[in-house]
Amino acid sequence: RIARRIDRPIVLVGLMGVGKSTVGRRLANLIGVDFVDVDDEIERAADRSVAEIFEEFGEPYFRNGERRVMGRLIGEKQGVIATGGGAFVDPETRGLIREKAISVWLDCDIETLVERTARRDSRPLLRQGDPHAILLDLKERRSGSYSQADCHVVTDDGPHNATALRILEAID
Ligand code: S3P
Repeated sequence: RIARRIDRPIVLVGLMGVGKSTVGRRLANLIGVDFVDVDDEIERAADRSVAEIFEEFGEPYFRNGERRVMGRLIGEKQGVIATGGGAFVDPETRGLIREKAISVWLDCDIETLVERTARRDSRPLLRQGDPHAILLDLKERRSGSYSQADCHVVTDDGPHNATALRILEAID
Protein backbone atom coordinates (compact mmCIF):
# COMPACT_ATOMS: atom_id res chain seq x y z
CA ARG A 1 0.00 0.00 0.00
CA ILE A 2 1.17 3.46 -0.88
CA ALA A 3 -0.27 6.50 0.83
CA ARG A 4 -1.25 8.89 -1.87
CA ARG A 5 -3.77 11.68 -1.93
CA ILE A 6 -5.51 11.91 -5.26
CA ASP A 7 -7.75 14.92 -5.75
CA ARG A 8 -9.05 13.92 -9.16
CA PRO A 9 -9.93 10.56 -10.71
CA ILE A 10 -7.12 8.83 -12.61
CA VAL A 11 -8.47 7.89 -16.04
CA LEU A 12 -6.65 5.27 -18.13
CA VAL A 13 -6.95 5.55 -21.90
CA GLY A 14 -5.44 3.64 -24.82
CA LEU A 15 -6.10 0.75 -27.20
CA MET A 16 -7.82 -2.54 -26.47
CA GLY A 17 -5.45 -4.99 -24.79
CA VAL A 18 -3.10 -2.38 -23.44
CA GLY A 19 -3.98 -3.32 -19.86
CA LYS A 20 -6.30 -0.51 -18.75
CA SER A 21 -8.47 -2.83 -16.64
CA THR A 22 -5.75 -5.11 -15.28
CA VAL A 23 -3.24 -2.42 -14.43
CA GLY A 24 -6.02 -0.07 -13.32
CA ARG A 25 -7.29 -2.56 -10.76
CA ARG A 26 -3.74 -3.07 -9.47
CA LEU A 27 -3.12 0.66 -9.25
CA ALA A 28 -6.36 1.28 -7.35
CA ASN A 29 -5.45 -1.46 -4.92
CA LEU A 30 -1.98 -0.06 -4.42
CA ILE A 31 -3.20 3.38 -3.43
CA GLY A 32 -6.39 2.18 -1.73
CA VAL A 33 -9.04 3.80 -3.92
CA ASP A 34 -12.06 2.49 -5.88
CA PHE A 35 -11.66 1.00 -9.32
CA VAL A 36 -14.29 1.17 -12.02
CA ASP A 37 -14.34 -0.16 -15.56
CA VAL A 38 -16.47 1.88 -17.96
CA ASP A 39 -17.33 -1.07 -20.21
CA ASP A 40 -18.59 -3.00 -17.17
CA GLU A 41 -20.76 -0.05 -16.18
CA ILE A 42 -22.22 0.21 -19.68
CA GLU A 43 -22.93 -3.54 -19.68
CA ARG A 44 -24.67 -3.26 -16.34
CA ALA A 45 -26.77 -0.27 -17.45
CA ALA A 46 -27.78 -1.95 -20.72
CA ASP A 47 -28.04 -5.43 -19.23
CA ARG A 48 -26.11 -6.65 -22.28
CA SER A 49 -22.50 -7.35 -23.19
CA VAL A 50 -20.57 -4.78 -25.25
CA ALA A 51 -20.65 -7.21 -28.18
CA GLU A 52 -24.44 -7.53 -27.90
CA ILE A 53 -24.89 -3.75 -27.73
CA PHE A 54 -22.85 -3.32 -30.94
CA GLU A 55 -24.80 -6.10 -32.62
CA GLU A 56 -28.30 -5.06 -31.59
CA PHE A 57 -28.05 -1.28 -31.59
CA GLY A 58 -24.84 -0.40 -33.44
CA GLU A 59 -21.68 1.48 -32.53
CA PRO A 60 -23.18 5.03 -32.39
CA TYR A 61 -25.62 3.84 -29.72
CA PHE A 62 -22.74 2.36 -27.73
CA ARG A 63 -20.76 5.63 -28.01
CA ASN A 64 -23.74 7.57 -26.66
CA GLY A 65 -23.97 5.26 -23.68
CA GLU A 66 -20.22 5.52 -23.17
CA ARG A 67 -20.40 9.32 -23.17
CA ARG A 68 -23.24 9.30 -20.66
CA VAL A 69 -21.66 6.76 -18.30
CA MET A 70 -18.33 8.60 -18.46
CA GLY A 71 -20.04 11.87 -17.55
CA ARG A 72 -21.65 10.28 -14.55
CA LEU A 73 -18.55 8.44 -13.32
CA ILE A 74 -16.22 11.35 -13.59
CA GLY A 75 -18.49 13.42 -11.38
CA GLU A 76 -18.89 10.87 -8.66
CA LYS A 77 -15.79 8.65 -8.65
CA GLN A 78 -12.55 9.56 -6.98
CA GLY A 79 -10.60 6.45 -7.83
CA VAL A 80 -9.13 4.84 -10.94
CA ILE A 81 -11.32 4.66 -14.05
CA ALA A 82 -10.49 2.31 -16.94
CA THR A 83 -12.13 3.51 -20.16
CA GLY A 84 -12.95 1.53 -23.30
CA GLY A 85 -10.45 2.16 -26.11
CA GLY A 86 -12.72 4.57 -27.99
CA ALA A 87 -13.77 6.83 -25.12
CA PHE A 88 -10.87 9.31 -25.29
CA VAL A 89 -11.26 9.54 -29.07
CA ASP A 90 -14.69 11.12 -28.71
CA PRO A 91 -14.04 14.90 -28.51
CA GLU A 92 -16.74 15.50 -25.92
CA THR A 93 -15.62 12.69 -23.60
CA ARG A 94 -11.97 13.66 -24.08
CA GLY A 95 -12.74 17.26 -23.15
CA LEU A 96 -14.54 16.16 -20.01
CA ILE A 97 -11.70 13.85 -18.94
CA ARG A 98 -9.07 16.50 -19.61
CA GLU A 99 -10.99 19.02 -17.57
CA LYS A 100 -11.85 16.88 -14.56
CA ALA A 101 -9.32 14.05 -14.30
CA ILE A 102 -5.70 13.03 -14.61
CA SER A 103 -5.47 11.11 -17.87
CA VAL A 104 -2.86 8.45 -18.54
CA TRP A 105 -2.23 6.99 -22.02
CA LEU A 106 -1.21 3.35 -21.73
CA ASP A 107 0.63 2.11 -24.76
CA CYS A 108 2.54 -0.95 -26.01
CA ASP A 109 3.53 -2.64 -29.25
CA ILE A 110 0.97 -4.13 -31.65
CA GLU A 111 2.16 -7.75 -31.30
CA THR A 112 1.47 -7.63 -27.55
CA LEU A 113 -1.98 -6.14 -28.16
CA VAL A 114 -2.82 -8.88 -30.68
CA GLU A 115 -1.72 -11.56 -28.25
CA ARG A 116 -3.63 -10.14 -25.31
CA THR A 117 -6.87 -9.42 -27.18
CA ALA A 118 -6.84 -12.93 -28.70
CA ARG A 119 -7.38 -14.41 -25.24
CA ARG A 120 -10.98 -13.24 -25.16
CA ASP A 121 -13.46 -12.84 -28.02
CA SER A 122 -15.35 -9.90 -26.55
CA ARG A 123 -14.33 -7.03 -28.82
CA PRO A 124 -16.70 -6.42 -31.71
CA LEU A 125 -14.26 -4.16 -33.58
CA LEU A 126 -11.73 -7.00 -33.82
CA ARG A 127 -14.26 -9.43 -35.29
CA GLN A 128 -14.48 -7.42 -38.49
CA GLY A 129 -11.21 -8.67 -39.99
CA ASP A 130 -7.57 -9.38 -39.20
CA PRO A 131 -6.99 -8.16 -35.61
CA HIS A 132 -3.38 -7.19 -36.33
CA ALA A 133 -4.37 -4.95 -39.25
CA ILE A 134 -7.32 -3.48 -37.34
CA LEU A 135 -5.24 -2.66 -34.26
CA LEU A 136 -2.52 -1.12 -36.41
CA ASP A 137 -5.08 1.03 -38.19
CA LEU A 138 -6.72 2.10 -34.90
CA LYS A 139 -3.32 2.97 -33.46
CA GLU A 140 -2.58 5.21 -36.42
CA ARG A 141 -5.95 6.89 -36.33
CA ARG A 142 -6.18 7.29 -32.56
CA SER A 143 -2.66 8.19 -31.44
CA GLY A 144 -3.35 11.87 -32.07
CA SER A 145 -6.17 11.70 -29.52
CA TYR A 146 -4.37 9.50 -27.00
CA SER A 147 -1.32 11.77 -27.07
CA GLN A 148 -3.48 14.52 -25.56
CA ALA A 149 -3.52 12.64 -22.27
CA ASP A 150 -1.62 14.19 -19.35
CA CYS A 151 1.00 11.45 -19.40
CA HIS A 152 2.19 8.40 -21.31
CA VAL A 153 3.18 5.05 -19.79
CA VAL A 154 4.35 1.93 -21.63
CA THR A 155 2.77 -1.35 -20.49
CA ASP A 156 5.19 -4.10 -21.40
CA ASP A 157 4.85 -7.66 -20.14
CA GLY A 158 6.49 -6.90 -16.79
CA PRO A 159 4.65 -7.26 -13.49
CA HIS A 160 1.45 -5.18 -13.18
CA ASN A 161 2.80 -3.80 -9.95
CA ALA A 162 5.79 -2.25 -11.70
CA THR A 163 3.53 -0.72 -14.34
CA ALA A 164 1.25 0.69 -11.64
CA LEU A 165 4.25 2.26 -9.94
CA ARG A 166 5.36 3.81 -13.23
CA ILE A 167 1.91 5.39 -13.54
CA LEU A 168 2.25 6.90 -10.07
CA GLU A 169 5.65 8.32 -11.02
CA ALA A 170 4.27 9.70 -14.26
CA ILE A 171 1.38 11.57 -12.65
CA ASP A 172 3.51 13.04 -9.91
C1 S3P B 1 -13.44 -0.33 -27.99
C2 S3P B 1 -12.78 -0.88 -26.93
C3 S3P B 1 -13.43 -1.80 -25.97
C4 S3P B 1 -14.94 -1.56 -25.93
C5 S3P B 1 -15.51 -1.61 -27.31
C6 S3P B 1 -14.89 -0.59 -28.26
C7 S3P B 1 -12.70 0.58 -28.90
O1 S3P B 1 -12.88 -1.60 -24.66
O2 S3P B 1 -15.23 -0.33 -25.34
O3 S3P B 1 -15.32 -2.92 -27.78
O4 S3P B 1 -13.34 1.33 -29.66
O5 S3P B 1 -11.45 0.59 -28.86
P1 S3P B 1 -11.40 -2.11 -24.22
O6 S3P B 1 -10.42 -1.08 -24.69
O7 S3P B 1 -11.49 -2.16 -22.75
O8 S3P B 1 -11.20 -3.44 -24.85
